Amino acid sequence: MTSPSPDESGREPSRPQEPQIRDRGGQQPDDGSWHPLEPLPAQDFWQVLYSRRSIRRFTDQAVPRDLIDQVMHAGIWAPSSCNYQMWDLVAVDDPERNARLAQLSAQMGNAPVNIIVAYGRDFSEENYANIQSASALIQNMSLAAEALGLGTFWITQMGDAQAVRDLVGLPLDRRVVAVLALGYAKIRPKRGPKRRPLAQVTHYNHYAGRPIPSSVDPEAWEPDLLAIYQRARVLNGLRHNKPRPWERRALETALQTMIPEIPRDLEEGATPRWLDVLPCTGILTEALSQKRRAYHFDVVERSQEVARWCADRVYPKGRALAWPTAGPDFPEPPAESFDLVSCLFRLEGLRADDRRNLWRAMAEWVRPGGLLWVGFVNQRSFHGWTESMRARRGGPQGVEYVLSPDPNVGPFQALASETIETEAAQAGWQLRDRLGFQAAPEPDELAFRTRNFSPTKGKLVRGGARFAGGLLRPLQASRGRFQFRLFEKER
Ligand SMILES: Cc1cc2nc3c(=O)[nH]c(=O)nc-3n(C[C@H](O)[C@H](O)[C@H](O)COP(=O)(O)O)c2cc1C
Repeated sequence: MTSPSPDESGREPSRPQEPQIRDRGGQQPDDGSWHPLEPLPAQDFWQVLYSRRSIRRFTDQAVPRDLIDQVMHAGIWAPSSCNYQMWDLVAVDDPERNARLAQLSAQMGNAPVNIIVAYGRDFSEENYANIQSASALIQNMSLAAEALGLGTFWITQMGDAQAVRDLVGLPLDRRVVAVLALGYAKIRPKRGPKRRPLAQVTHYNHYAGRPIPSSVDPEAWEPDLLAIYQRARVLNGLRHNKPRPWERRALETALQTMIPEIPRDLEEGATPRWLDVLPCTGILTEALSQKRRAYHFDVVERSQEVARWCADRVYPKGRALAWPTAGPDFPEPPAESFDLVSCLFRLEGLRADDRRNLWRAMAEWVRPGGLLWVGFVNQRSFHGWTESMRARRGGPQGVEYVLSPDPNVGPFQALASETIETEAAQAGWQLRDRLGFQAAPEPDELAFRTRNFSPTKGKLVRGGARFAGGLLRPLQASRGRFQFRLFEKER
């Protein structure tokens, strides 16, 4: 656009203005003395701070634009690196455009408003100054929304960030950092999920704690830190993460093939007993208990809270039992009292010594002639390839469940079949059955793993993987990513 030339009086002619319904601050000094909403409702700061919650369900009620403006105005009063304020916000309140955003990620399909937050792409990445500044703005907006009786949800899982940018017309120079969903809450959690205690996470002058490792290497994890971490995971809400469909399919097929509805040699009238070992979130325990209703389920875990949480997920409620450390109200599983013990995708998180102790403990818990069902991720499979792909793309890209975990869900190292079978034999277990699944990623996993790729690259990778998958399918017994073994204890 050419700039308008001065008129005869020497004044700049007024620029063609977009029709303005009301003043959005264009004529006002933005020194904090003016804000879109007048007067601002009085709210107690601490009340707002502690009662803000992430809202996952919104009503359809539209949000008036002066409230959206007020939220964004609170945002731009956040600190920014060098005060460069290289942020740009696009509030999408047009249902049709929001529907297109929702196609990129279901998380953008919940609220009547999605505020796209972008920051100067190449602005100092020193210590992520761009991301930090944008985050300060987002948090200001979240608190302002709470003060105005609105709810927010901070979205990083937006699917293809470039597609989001294109959809709202932001230039390439702007990086979409996050999206803040905004609206009136339909469901509002009564209380916030628990926080780690202040004394555990804060220090004066010198760090005096024991950090929870951020490594996937089981050797880096002291067993008590693992117990603390899992307790935090379960109690703080990571329990909401669901296994991916391809993980579930492998498990369900193995269950159907390997585990009978009731044990073959069960005494008449007896209730078969199943012990699920280290279930952590209990999602799989619950699923198994629904598919094998004849069994009574108990669970064994590292902390009483986690064990109780999982044992309460089955019907009738199971016993919460302890490994490796029992306490007065938290007993070890009684010896020889289970028909079946399952340990699904948990040996990968243990140090070699702990693994050997667990094999022996499981042999104690099961009755003579009883079964041990083990599931593990195969070191000699494409698992390593998906992990390196994730690493190359800059760390965690969305939290996944235990069968293909992100580094932020605890220790996890795929195991070789030989390791599993040798260690089991050393603890006295006899191998009865072997199964392996998915020597190559299934179509839904492939679509998921390539969801942030450009269309051309995605097509190429998916095509190549499908071709390799066809070649590898006959090898799934040995090269399948998900491996299952059934062992029997000597009679
Ligand atoms: C950067 C970021 C990303 C988040 N992504 C998700 C998400 O993908 N799914 C989800 O249910 N919650 C997500 N949340 C919300 C957190 O789970 C939530 O903040 C946390 O459980 C504490 O609850 P509260 O916000 O109600 O206090 C995200 C929060 C932040 C800050």
